[in-house]
Amino acid sequence: MGDTLEYDEKEARQEAAIYRTQAAADRRELVRETLDLQRGDRVLSIGCGPGFEPAELAGAVGESGYVHGIDRSEAMLTLANQRCDDLPQAALSKGNALDLPVADESFDAAVAVQVFEYLDRVDAAVNELARVLRPGGRAVVCDADFDSLVWRSPNPARMERVLDAFDDHCPWPHLGSRLAPLLRDAGLTIERVEPNTMLETRLNDESFAYHLMEFIKDYAANHDSIGSDEASAWVADLREHEENGATFFNFTQYLYRVRKSK
Ligand SMILES: C[S@@+](CC[C@H](N)C(=O)[O-])C[C@H]1O[C@@H](n2cnc3c(N)ncnc32)[C@H](O)[C@@H]1O
Repeated sequence: MGDTLEYDEKEARQEAAIYRTQAAADRRELVRETLDLQRGDRVLSIGCGPGFEPAELAGAVGESGYVHGIDRSEAMLTLANQRCDDLPQAALSKGNALDLPVADESFDAAVAVQVFEYLDRVDAAVNELARVLRPGGRAVVCDADFDSLVWRSPNPARMERVLDAFDDHCPWPHLGSRLAPLLRDAGLTIERVEPNTMLETRLNDESFAYHLMEFIKDYAANHDSIGSDEASAWVADLREHEENGATFFNFTQYLYRVRKSK
């Protein structure tokens, strides 16, 4: 992860492990339901990541539909290609959310899930989203607000220090609660805002919390205010809590369903 979002192979695989969890699958299902996809729809997946999103969208629109996944990371696209290989209605390409390599008004629907929070220019990305939707087209934009994160540890002070440092991992760690004016400024109408809450009480390799912990540990180890010793101690705190049956992780992201006027 990180503000550059230049994933290497290991980081892309780590990210794929997060997206393989039930919590992430449930969120993708909520995104698809909120988008109200129809067979035959043309859908754009902006920041498609390791490919779960475009592959599942392709299932929802069927072979008469079309899904185009765009990501700027080669490592992510390699994983996404493996996942979408046998889906004739899915195409992937390298591109930037700030300058989407697709024509004006060419999609019925679009998704951008935990992508815009990583961009310096969210306004430019939202304008691009509006440009590529057909009149009347709809989109789901979903971003987190890390203030929503309730994550218990036997050492709350250390937890706070580590999460404060992790706020630096992207330019907009609170975008989820701040998206509305940006979407409206691009001329999009907000039809619904839905929370997606991930609540987990176990820390194991099937949990979102576990994989996020691995990510944060690597990030915090290289952060000036934390370093590797404290990052490892933070992980040990969480493991101790798990052994005591005390794991509690609750994290909310916000889905905005928007429409472009006809
Ligand atoms: C947290 S992942 C989300 C993946 C996917 N949307 C999902 O929910 O399964 C963020 C993705 O956005 C991509 N990304 C970040 N900045 C981007 C940009 N400017 N243009 C295109 N993709 C970008 C990253 O490479 C990464 O794959």
